[in-house]
This record gives sequence, C-alpha cells and structure tokens, in this order.
Amino acid sequence: MSAQNLLVRSARRVSRRAIPCTNQTRGVASRQTRYQLNTGDTIPAIGFGTFQDPNAQEDAVSRALRAGLRLIDTARVYDVEKQVGKGLKASGIPRGDIFLGTKLWCNNYHPDDVEEALDNSLEDLGTPYVDLLLMHYPCTFARGDERFPRDHDGKMILGKTTFVDTWKAMEELLTTGKVKAIGVSNFSKGETQTLIENTSTASLDRTPLLQIPAVHQMEVHPYLQQRDFNEWLRSQGIHVIQFSPLGNMNDFYRSTGWSKQVSHMMRVIDQPLLKQLGKKYGKSAVQIALAWGVNHGRSVIPKSTIDWQIKENVEADFEMDLEDIEAIKTLDIKARFNDPSLDYQWRLYSDLEGIEGAVQGRTH
Ligand SMILES: NC(=O)c1ccc[n+]([C@@H]2O[C@H](COP(=O)([O-])OP(=O)(O)OC[C@H]3O[C@@H](n4cnc5c(N)ncnc54)[C@H](OP(=O)(O)O)[C@@H]3O)[C@@H](O)[C@H]2O)c1
Repeated sequence: MSAQNLLVRSARRVSRRAIPCTNQTRGVASRQTRYQLNTGDTIPAIGFGTFQDPNAQEDAVSRALRAGLRLIDTARVYDVEKQVGKGLKASGIPRGDIFLGTKLWCNNYHPDDVEEALDNSLEDLGTPYVDLLLMHYPCTFARGDERFPRDHDGKMILGKTTFVDTWKAMEELLTTGKVKAIGVSNFSKGETQTLIENTSTASLDRTPLLQIPAVHQMEVHPYLQQRDFNEWLRSQGIHVIQFSPLGNMNDFYRSTGWSKQVSHMMRVIDQPLLKQLGKKYGKSAVQIALAWGVNHGRSVIPKSTIDWQIKENVEADFEMDLEDIEAIKTLDIKARFNDPSLDYQWRLYSDLEGIEGAVQGRTH
C-alpha cells in the first residue's frame, strides 16, 4: 500500500515526479520532490546542511548544487556564510533556482538589530535575499557583538527581548524583499503557539503579512520521531525541516556534553532494520533514514563534505511503502542529541519528547 496519500498532508506536495537522476547508481529512481509552503513558494524535500567544516564549505556547497540539491541551509552562527555565498556562485546554478535559508542568532534578537543582522548575512552570502530566515532558538542572549555573552562564572547572560518581539521585527522584513519566508527553529509546542497567537494576523491593527511561521526546523530522525508534534505542526500548516536527519551521526554530539547519555548509542544508520529495508529498495540505510522523512512530507538537510555521500543523499528521495514506514516507528526511542538547554539557561523543548538526556556542556 502506498504511503503517499496517507502521510503527506503538511505542506502540499507540488511535484512528485519520478525523475531518474543522471548520477543514479542503484536502487529505485530518485525524484525531485518539492513542497508548498504557506507563503505559496515551494521548498525542496532534500537539502544540504552547512554546520561545521568551514574550510570545506565553499567547495561542498558548490558540489552539492551541481549534484542536484537545491535547498541550502546555513546560519549566522555557523560562521560559514561567506563560504556558502562563494559556493553558490561557483556552482553556476542560477540564484533563482536555489532555496537558501539562514538563521538569526540569539544576540541579535532585539527588534532594532534584526534587519542589520540580516543585512550582514546577505552581504556575506552575496545575495540580495534569502528564501527563508529562521529564528535559531527561542532564547534571547544579551544584546551586543558577543554571540555567547557570559558572566564571570561562564554563565550565559540572557537578553530582555521576547521571541514575540523578534518575530514581529522579522515579519516587517517580509515587506523589504530581502526575505521571502520566515520561520522558527528549536521551538517547543507552547512557544510556537505563543507565536501564532501573537503574529500580525492575530492583531487587528496590523496589516496581515503572514499567517504563521512557514517552517519549523527541528531535530527529527528515526530515534526522535516526534509524531504528535509533527502532526500538530502539519495541522497548523507549518512545514518541517529535519535537522540532524541522520541522528547521532554528527561527531559534535559525541564530543560535546549536550547529550552524553544518549549520543554514544548505536548510530541510527547502523540499525539492522534500516539496512534490511535498504536491501528491499536497493538503497543504503542512510537513504532509508532520509526517505523516511521525505515520505512524511518533511524536508531533510543532511550535511556532508564527501562527494559520494552527497550523491547518496541526493538519491534519497523515493517512495516507500506504508508498511516500511510503520516498521520504522519501532526505532523511536526518543533520543534527542541537540539539547543545549543547560548552557543556554533556557529549558528548550519543554513540552516535547526526549529532554531527559540533557547534561551540562559548554560548547562555545
Ligand atoms: N537549527 C538547528 O539548531 C540545527 C542544529 C543542528 C543542525 N542543523 C542543520 O542541519 C544540518 C545537518 O545536521 P547535522 O550535521 O547535525 O547532522 P547530519 O546531517 O544528520 O549528520 C552529519 C554527519 O553525517 C555524515 N554523513 C552525511 N551524509 C552521509 C552519508 N550519505 N553516508 C554516511 N555519512 C554521511 C557527515 O559526514 P561528513 O561531514 O564527513 O561528510 C556528518 O558527519 C546541519 O549542517 C545544519 O545545517 C540545524
């Protein structure tokens, strides 16, 4: 039985053509799925993350685009926007064909700082606009140049701005043409609800600009499926981009203290079930993990600097049978790897799954 009709309801799927990629090496044919956002624009299902490896990012972004990826995810705090911008140009792919997203960092959340912060990102990225601007976390750090402002004891100094005020400043950006869509990342359900209740459309004295966030970028993979939250976001018309779609594949989670108790467990991609399913489709366990997200109507943004991995990820957009998607439910052990709550002095994900593993870990 096909999963297509049952599982894809959040962002409307607008193109689900089975287009065999020219670099197809094995297995079922890859598609080039795009979803429609609540802004009317479309976003690709498979994208490319740029966190870490700054020296490799220019080349990696260029290669990823040439390999067929059209969604690039970056952030001010990754310190790679210049490299990403150069990679975009080096690829030769027209800017209009690329969906580019970046994120505002927590020390720039004061409403008077938001546009300038975006301008700095645009300058480094070498582009007049981004397709998506996300608020990276709901917590605000003290205003100023210091990205991680700390007191004498090393404790993070929080700012006074609320994420609602920051959001309103982001909404204003939609009128400038510098941003096509806005969204959030790492928000709890309650924080997302607060935002929805306070958006422009919720206040009668303002011109409606956007109904609600277009996107929530959050940690989702077979070990942290967040089924209820994903369902709720879908019901609100908020498209989900899965970060760390391969789970604890990123060494960062093993080397930092954020999730020590869970990050050392068997890697998601070593799970026998994913390998077994891979055999059925002629795909790898990595591709099954990514396709699982795509078959739920979400975008995935694996990061890689290695050519064969990038190509493998490009070919992870294929239809899976519902019974196989159902089987992957058994891997949902609610293991969250990205949880800087203690360092950021803010209980993140407070009403979501997988927050027990958080431990103190200073990472910046
Ligand atoms: N919003 C947020 O707060 C937030 C948080 C975390 C991440 N993100 C975004 O999400 C992106 C991805 O997250 P992530 O880097 O944490 O996790 P990930 O993409 O799930 O894992 C990255 C790791 O997987 C490896 N890998 C990628 N493709 C592979 C393949 N086909 N086969 C084998 N290994 C493969 C990479 O290796 P190599 O690098 O050696 O190639 C890298 O070590 C980030 O780059 C960033 O853009 C956002």
